[in-house]
Amino acid sequence: MEKFDLYLPTRLVFGKDRISELPELTKSYGRKILLTYGGGSIKRSGIYDRIKSLYQGAEIFELSGIEPNPKIDSIRQGVEIIKQHGIDFILAVGGGSVLDASKNMAAGAFYDGDPWDLVVDASKIGRTLPIFAVLTLSATGSEYDNSGVITNDATHEKMPIFGNMWPVASICDPQYTFSVPANQTAAGAADIMSHTFESYLVRHGNTLTDGFCEAMLRTVIKNAPVAIREPHNYEARAELMMASSFGCCGLLNIGREVSPWVCHGLEHELSAFYDITHGVGLAILTPVWMKYSLNAETAPRFANYGINVFGLDKNADVMSNANKAIELTAAFFKEIGLPSKLSEIGIDDSHFEEMADHVRKIWFGDFKYALRPLDRQDLINILKGCL
Ligand code: NZQ
Ligand code: ZN
Repeated sequence: MEKFDLYLPTRLVFGKDRISELPELTKSYGRKILLTYGGGSIKRSGIYDRIKSLYQGAEIFELSGIEPNPKIDSIRQGVEIIKQHGIDFILAVGGGSVLDASKNMAAGAFYDGDPWDLVVDASKIGRTLPIFAVLTLSATGSEYDNSGVITNDATHEKMPIFGNMWPVASICDPQYTFSVPANQTAAGAADIMSHTFESYLVRHGNTLTDGFCEAMLRTVIKNAPVAIREPHNYEARAELMMASSFGCCGLLNIGREVSPWVCHGLEHELSAFYDITHGVGLAILTPVWMKYSLNAETAPRFANYGINVFGLDKNADVMSNANKAIELTAAFFKEIGLPSKLSEIGIDDSHFEEMADHVRKIWFGDFKYALRPLDRQDLINILKGCL
């Protein structure tokens, strides 16, 4: 058993209409608010009007139009508003992109240089502005972690930022995800599963953490198809929303060596070059990475996954169960409507070498602590296997 720290300072405020509690939650944080949101879904769903009515009398400044795969230019705009108007806290309303961008803004609020510096070098993050979040899409876990992922189009880089950027509180009302379209629901499901695989399919497990991971996977596999078929099914949306929050908060890694997140590292490279939806890239990469990592040594972990998540026969041959588990994973992504090849989404091999070099530079070098250790050529081979 490895030593660990688990620090989860965010208050998760989960359930129907909990947004009504926001003014009480934020009351000691001031009355000058930067409301951040994306391309307009919060206006169509009525959340925007609700917030306006909850905060009558407060000074609300707005930054709208935060893009999926949020761009550093949006963050620069947000930081400018914060500094110009002396904002007290950020109210981020949306999916992972809005929340991530808001975290970078919160860190930029007390930094004199360009907010991109904080992505490149987290040691420059000092004090941060408080953030409150209203989650509208179950996927990233940004509502319950201290990280974000920011894109710099000028340099073709999509990089994680880590720091003291936990939301003070996150409102998680599953009803707000009723309007998430099928393709985004599926991509979100793939993202939650990938956070779990990256924590679960590692060299050494332990009973408790493996159990958390298996429960996460069973939850998504059971509920994502229901939510896609019946977008207003509260229980299915609620189970996905709960699973979202536990994917990246550290709980799934406790007591064991943290493995490099291979699919996430590679997916961020794909998004950096092609601006694809995060969960779509993960659904394509994951089964290929699994197959590439399968050998006599790693087979028992895949086989256990097959037994405990898909109910495979525990007396069957280990390698056969391992192969079946990987096939069932790919079949699940297909069933919920996700593509299985990069060529289906217009990506060819022209940038694979640059991607492998960049991910090695900013993530984990040789990925030697991955389930199967991976060098530069292995990373390129995995990308090629996705074509
Ligand atoms: O912009 P709007 O109009 O709001 O539309 C969004 C966007 O087009 C839409 N949407 C969100 N909620 C909706 C809705 N549409 C209808 N009804 C609703 N209730 O969905 C689209 C995608 O939104 P986005 O926020 O981009 O999706 P997601 O939550 O999947 O976030 C993806 C981003 O998070 C990063 C990803 O790399 C990507 O940049 N990640 C963040 C992590 C973290 N902070 O810990 C970890 C993850 O691994 C991930 O890398
Ligand atoms: Zn992810």
